[in-house]
Amino acid sequence: MSSVGSPLLRVDGQQKVTGEATYTMDHHTADPLHGWLVQSTVAKGRVTAVHADRALEHGGVVSVIDHTNAPRLADTDDLELAVLQGDRVRFRGQVVACVLAETPEAARHGAELVRVEYDEEAADVAFREAAATLRPDELDPDNDADTMQGDVEAALADAAHVVDQTYRTPFEHNNPMEPHATLAHWHGDPDSDEGHVLTVCTSTQSVHGVAASLARILGIDAGKIRVVASYVGGGFGSKGLPHCHDAVAVLAARTTGGRPVKLAVTRQQMFALTGYRTATIQRVRLGADQDGRLTAIDHRSLEQTSTSKQFVEESALVTRSMYAAGSRRTSHRVALLDVAVPSWMRAPGEMPGAYALESAMDELAVVLGIDPVELRIRNDTQTDPESGKPFSSRRLVECLRLGAERFGWSRRDARPGASRDGDWLVGLGMAAASYPANVFPGNRATVRALEPGRFVVEIGAVDIGTGAWTVLGQIAAAALGAEPDDVEMRIGDTSYPKASVAGGSSGTASWGTAITSAVAAFRKEHGDDPHPGDETTADAERSSDLEHYATHSYGAHFVEARVHRLTGEVRVPRMLGVFSAGRVVNPVTARSQFIGAMTMGLSAALLEESWRDPRYGHVVTQDLATYHVAAHADVRDLEAVWLDEDDFRVTPMGARGIGEIGIVGSPAAVANAVHHATGIRIRDLPITPDKLLARFDG
Ligand code: MOS
Repeated sequence: MSSVGSPLLRVDGQQKVTGEATYTMDHHTADPLHGWLVQSTVAKGRVTAVHADRALEHGGVVSVIDHTNAPRLADTDDLELAVLQGDRVRFRGQVVACVLAETPEAARHGAELVRVEYDEEAADVAFREAAATLRPDELDPDNDADTMQGDVEAALADAAHVVDQTYRTPFEHNNPMEPHATLAHWHGDPDSDEGHVLTVCTSTQSVHGVAASLARILGIDAGKIRVVASYVGGGFGSKGLPHCHDAVAVLAARTTGGRPVKLAVTRQQMFALTGYRTATIQRVRLGADQDGRLTAIDHRSLEQTSTSKQFVEESALVTRSMYAAGSRRTSHRVALLDVAVPSWMRAPGEMPGAYALESAMDELAVVLGIDPVELRIRNDTQTDPESGKPFSSRRLVECLRLGAERFGWSRRDARPGASRDGDWLVGLGMAAASYPANVFPGNRATVRALEPGRFVVEIGAVDIGTGAWTVLGQIAAAALGAEPDDVEMRIGDTSYPKASVAGGSSGTASWGTAITSAVAAFRKEHGDDPHPGDETTADAERSSDLEHYATHSYGAHFVEARVHRLTGEVRVPRMLGVFSAGRVVNPVTARSQFIGAMTMGLSAALLEESWRDPRYGHVVTQDLATYHVAAHADVRDLEAVWLDEDDFRVTPMGARGIGEIGIVGSPAAVANAVHHATGIRIRDLPITPDKLLARFDG
């Protein structure tokens, strides 16, 4: 009766499609005030005056909070969260005030009436190669900026064939369907011992993470803060960490005499305040022998980060373990700019990195005259070249072979530009994919017996649309020997045991391990016939194999691209992803994860790009009319399949993560298909018609 592996429908599906699901802004709360953010209009400098008088005269406006009157934070080291604590402006769009009013409309109008004066300074906002000189490990010692094995220059000099190209990826913004929002309510005295004193509903990927961050900046115990995120409309990493709006809401609610504050970040404000994927400039050099075996890999990535906070997109990480080669080097350099704070976006690092590496592999296949599938098979390895550890399971070659067979790869004419359908040039491309199988520490779960055969399982995890709620219930039911209907799964609240972030494709693996451990501990304590009310809370027992093996998921992407010979328009009628991701706990929700990420890969390949104003560094394409994401008409026949397997070295369920691997490699597969269709290699994403038109003959 194992529910693991069953195509269960989402437990929260009906609430979502009927509009009953309470997202953050849907929470009804008595007598709230509404906040609206006021953003800086200069990129760098000091606020010299905030004129609130006209705003305060507007009907419904209650107060204007700025750096002169905002409550003080206990810890201001994190400059993204240290809002309204000083007069410094570090990027255009930074929050310089918050208007509180009786209605959102009054707050919004009030925000427009606030007049801010600045002492403006010259800002450095342009991402360019010459500025990217800092080693990321000087900013954050946990980042290994560079790795080197063997003599890369000598190996390249001796190689029979060399590819040496530079690839560029643009700024991108996550744009989940539900914009960020926070509801903050102080209902107790922070200095007392009365339990929760602050309740925060926020759209986040980590309720415990938000509580810990807020506790740190407020200087109070995390146990005094309750954070709730029952329903979250996507995040893609942008909700992985709290952003400034969470801190503003909590500070503002401190000034209201106990009235709650509701604060919504608008879609336009998200382009400045809730993270983004930085642009990259990546040089990849591959050296190979006559047979296509790699002898040298050199992947160097230039990126940018913000002066406020130093997140770095580590694009060459994926190259460290992807293919065997005797000599190898990876490096990252970063520019510090006066711009908005970058952060996680689905497969941060791996996505742009694999675009560069897998494009270069395609170029090498062309140079060598070897089929690109075969080239990857020849360079497969069962030992992680970086760490020397064996892989817990690496079935990349099977993904490649199965994908090639299902996609009809053998019918592909190797010559680029050989296939036509009227005015459409038709091409097939492919790329490989890999993403680390993360199992994060610090997870625990509670199991409680109800009447015979029924249970409650609690963990402070969050379902951001992934299906985690459903899948965790399946894992719990299987461990308890119960039907999924007999297990009530409770998540999305710090009232439940500590859980790591819904990020890094780690949720099912990390939380599922905790639930499995808690059920085992419950059994040990209460036996097979527990009494109602029997309860056990236990920490996750992570597999000790995690230290002895390199753990990754793998995939192979296949794409058909059609390019219009007159307009340069690219259509993708067919996309196939074949994945090796351990045991799939729920094929319905897993498929959604795979094809969702593949859709984002398609979107990145052809559409997504944030444009900055070169003078001030803010994003001018700050809405969905100008920042294009793939829509229904762009997404045609999309298929995801997976190998039947389990990986018990990684988790007791045999599952690895699946959330991000679909966006890794898929942009390269699209670009490679466009090259095969046209013979034109576009080395900067997105592949828009203008770039192709500029290269068309005649
Ligand atoms: Mo995801 S970018 O790991 O939250």
